[in-house]
Amino acid sequence: MKEQLEAIRKKAIEAIGGAEAAADLESLRVKYLGKKGELTAVLKQMGGLSAELRPVIGQLANEVRASVEKAIEAQSAIVSERALAARLEAETLDVTIPGKKVPQGHKHPMYAVLDDIKEIFIGMGFEIFDGPEIERAEYNFTKLNAPEDHPSRDWTDTFYLTEDSSVLLRSQTSPVQIRAMETHGVPIRMISPGRVYRKDEVDATHSPMFHQIEGLVVDKGITMADLKGTLNTIIREIYGPETKTRFRPHHFPFTEPSCEMDIQCHKCGGVGCPTCKGEGWIELLGAGMVHPKVLRNCGVDPEEYSGFAFGFGLERLALGQYKISDMRLIFENDIRFLEQF
Ligand code: DAH
Repeated sequence: MKEQLEAIRKKAIEAIGGAEAAADLESLRVKYLGKKGELTAVLKQMGGLSAELRPVIGQLANEVRASVEKAIEAQSAIVSERALAARLEAETLDVTIPGKKVPQGHKHPMYAVLDDIKEIFIGMGFEIFDGPEIERAEYNFTKLNAPEDHPSRDWTDTFYLTEDSSVLLRSQTSPVQIRAMETHGVPIRMISPGRVYRKDEVDATHSPMFHQIEGLVVDKGITMADLKGTLNTIIREIYGPETKTRFRPHHFPFTEPSCEMDIQCHKCGGVGCPTCKGEGWIELLGAGMVHPKVLRNCGVDPEEYSGFAFGFGLERLALGQYKISDMRLIFENDIRFLEQF
């Protein structure tokens, strides 16, 4: 039996040394050490041995098993090292070849303008508020003091979502004034940019969806001087320190008094040109002192607090800033157009 065991050891170690793959090593392990393997077969005959021989052969059998296992382990390290080397060889990478360029997008020009405007307002202590685009008529009109027969409530002007005219796509960002006062309370200093919807035909200056930026400041002792001072400061931040502005009386249901603000045409300096349609001035925004009824509708006492509000169209501002003549370009998302910014 001793010879048998030595023969197994020799054969096994030789075969293992020649193995070139992990799978070959595994079948050799099964062949020699497995339950039906050669070593096990020899051990099964040990019952017929004498009491003196049995421990001697037993020990030898253990040694043979250990040396076969060790050989497998050593060879398996060699095999995997060779496999790695082969892979590295096959997969060599030339790091000096120029890479494939992934085309990278950038911010939409109008949102770039919006981000600049937000920065200016944040710098002046304003908070940014968000409001729903699907809005209640109560917020879009009623709490803003719009009378029941106000033309903007008409089905021909506004997208209603329910037969009873109670839910709509907001036609202005002004309802966020109400929501902000209700949830945040006063004093407040906020702007709220967002999409608004109106039943307008698409042309160079109209779209059924466009963007507004709403602003609201309410505190003790706020006057028309604060309105003018704040808006002048902001407009000069956007258009440059030399920009001239003027305020004209106007009417909005939610402000009293109300005004519109114009800037002197930056193209012609006020003489009159196609950009300002010969006027010398460009209408920029609507504003006014928050109507006492609106304050009361939000639980704010107009005897104690006053405020001003303003709203302007973002598209017009962006068009002016980039000297784009047609609003449709802003929404068509033609890469050839957007790439220019
Ligand atoms: N909501 C008005 C519009 O869509 C714009 C506006 C005017 C907003 C005056 C205001 C304001 O907050 O005070 O035409």
